[in-house]
Amino acid sequence: MKRIVVISNRVARAEPQSRDDAGATGGLAVAVREALSETAGLWFGWSGALSETPAVQPPEPQPGGYRVATMDLTPADHRGYYNGYANEALWPVLHSAPHLMHHSAQRFSTYQSVNIQFVERLMPFLHPDDMIWIHDYHLMPAAQELRRRGLRNPIGFFLHTPFPAAETFAALPEHRRLIEGLCHADLIGFQTGTDLRAFHDYIRYEAQGTVSMDGRVDAFGRQCRASVFPISIDPMAFAKAAEAHAGSDYCRQLQNGLAGRSLVLGVDRLDYTKGLPHRMLAYECLLERHPELHRTMSFLQIASQSRSKLPEYVAIRRELEEVSGRINGRFSEPDWLPLRYINRGIPRETLAGVLRMARMALVTPLHDGMNLVAKEFVAAQNPEDPGVLMLSRFAGAAQELETALIVNPLDHAQTADKLHQGLTMSLNERRERWQAMMAVISTNDVGRWWRSFVRALADAANPTVHPP
Ligand code: G6P
Repeated sequence: MKRIVVISNRVARAEPQSRDDAGATGGLAVAVREALSETAGLWFGWSGALSETPAVQPPEPQPGGYRVATMDLTPADHRGYYNGYANEALWPVLHSAPHLMHHSAQRFSTYQSVNIQFVERLMPFLHPDDMIWIHDYHLMPAAQELRRRGLRNPIGFFLHTPFPAAETFAALPEHRRLIEGLCHADLIGFQTGTDLRAFHDYIRYEAQGTVSMDGRVDAFGRQCRASVFPISIDPMAFAKAAEAHAGSDYCRQLQNGLAGRSLVLGVDRLDYTKGLPHRMLAYECLLERHPELHRTMSFLQIASQSRSKLPEYVAIRRELEEVSGRINGRFSEPDWLPLRYINRGIPRETLAGVLRMARMALVTPLHDGMNLVAKEFVAAQNPEDPGVLMLSRFAGAAQELETALIVNPLDHAQTADKLHQGLTMSLNERRERWQAMMAVISTNDVGRWWRSFVRALADAANPTVHPP
C-alpha cells in the first residue's frame, strides 16, 4: 500500500492525556490516528503553537508507527484563518446556521494564505508515490494549491462536518471558489447520503455542473468523484478500555455520588451545534411530567471546551450555566441533585468507563457530521445489561444506528417522552436494540472507513478502463 499523507488543522502526537484537548480527542484526530498507525503514514498540520516567527517541525516518528510534521502560525494568521474564517464563517454555515456567520473578505484572504502556507511547508516532505488525504473545512482550498504547484499524486478530501442545503452553503460569499477548490481533489468524501445529496444539488444548481450515476462530478472544468464514507471507531478496543476503566477512581467516585440512581449522560464539546440547552430543557420537561422519576436518576453533562474565546461559545456557555442553575434550583432536594454539569473534559479511557456506567446516553445535536460519542457509547456497554442511546435525527450516526431512540432535539416534549421510554425500557428491549447497533459498528468500523476511502481514492485517481 502507498504511503498516506494526511493534512489536517489539528494533529495528535500520541494518545492525548486529557479530553480537555478537544482537538486531539475529537472524532477527526482519533480516527486519523487509527488509520495512520497502520500505514506508517505522515501527518501534517498546525503545531498548536503561535509565534511571530513561525517554524516548521520536520517529520518525527510517533509511538503509533506514523510520523508527525507540523508548522506554527502567527497570532494574526490564527485569528483570521482558524477563529475567523474556519470557525466563524464556515462552521456555522456547514451546520445550517448561516445567521451565526461573521464574515469578512480579510478573513477569507487569511484563510487562503494559511492554506498556501500549509501546502508550501508540506511539499518538501512529499514522495512521488504518496497518496494525499486532506481533512475538514479548515483546508478546502488545499487541493487546488497542491495542483497549482504541479502535484499529480492522488488527492482525497474528507469533510467531517455535515454539508448543508445548497442554498445555505451559498450564503458564504466565496462559495464557488471553495467548491472549485475542492473539485481539484480526485475524491471528495462525506459522512452521510444526506450530505452527498446536498453536495450534488450544489454542483447541479449552483455550479451548473453534472453528476453521473456512478458518482462522477463534472464542474468548474474538473472531473472528480464524490461518495459516502461514514467515519467510525475501533469498537473492540473501545469495549476493552471501557471494561478495564469501569473500576477507575473517577468511576468509583461517580458511583458513590449516584447512590444507586441511574446515570443519564451527555458528553460533548461545548458547542452551539450540540443542542445542549435543548437537551436540558427536555430533561426539565421530564422532571415536570414525571415526579415519580425524581431521585431515581441523575443527569451528568460533561462539556469540554474548545474555541472558548469566540463570542458564540461564550454565549452558549452562559446560557448553559443559567439553564442548569435554574433546573437545579427548581428540583434539587437536600439529598438529590438532578443535574450535574462539568465544564471540563476527561481522559478518553476514563470516559470509556463512564459511558459503560450510563443507563442512558443523550446524543442530541442540532447538526453533527457523525458524532463518534454515539458509537463509543454503544461499544462501551455491558452486553448483559446495556444502556439506551438517545440520538438526534440530525447526527450522521442516526443514519446507521437506527435502533437508538431517535429524536428531534428541537421537540422538547417528544424528547422528554423518549427519555421516559428509555428510563423505563425492559432489559429485553434494551438488549435487542443494543445488539442491532453493535452489529452495525462492528461491521462499519474505523478500519473499513479509511480502507474504503483509500481504495476509492486509488480508483478515482487511476480509473480502471472497463471494456464497453
Ligand atoms: C470537529 C471538527 C474537527 C475539530 C474538532 C475539535 O470535530 O470536525 O476538525 O478538530 O471539532 O475542534 P477544534 O476547533 O478544537 O479543533
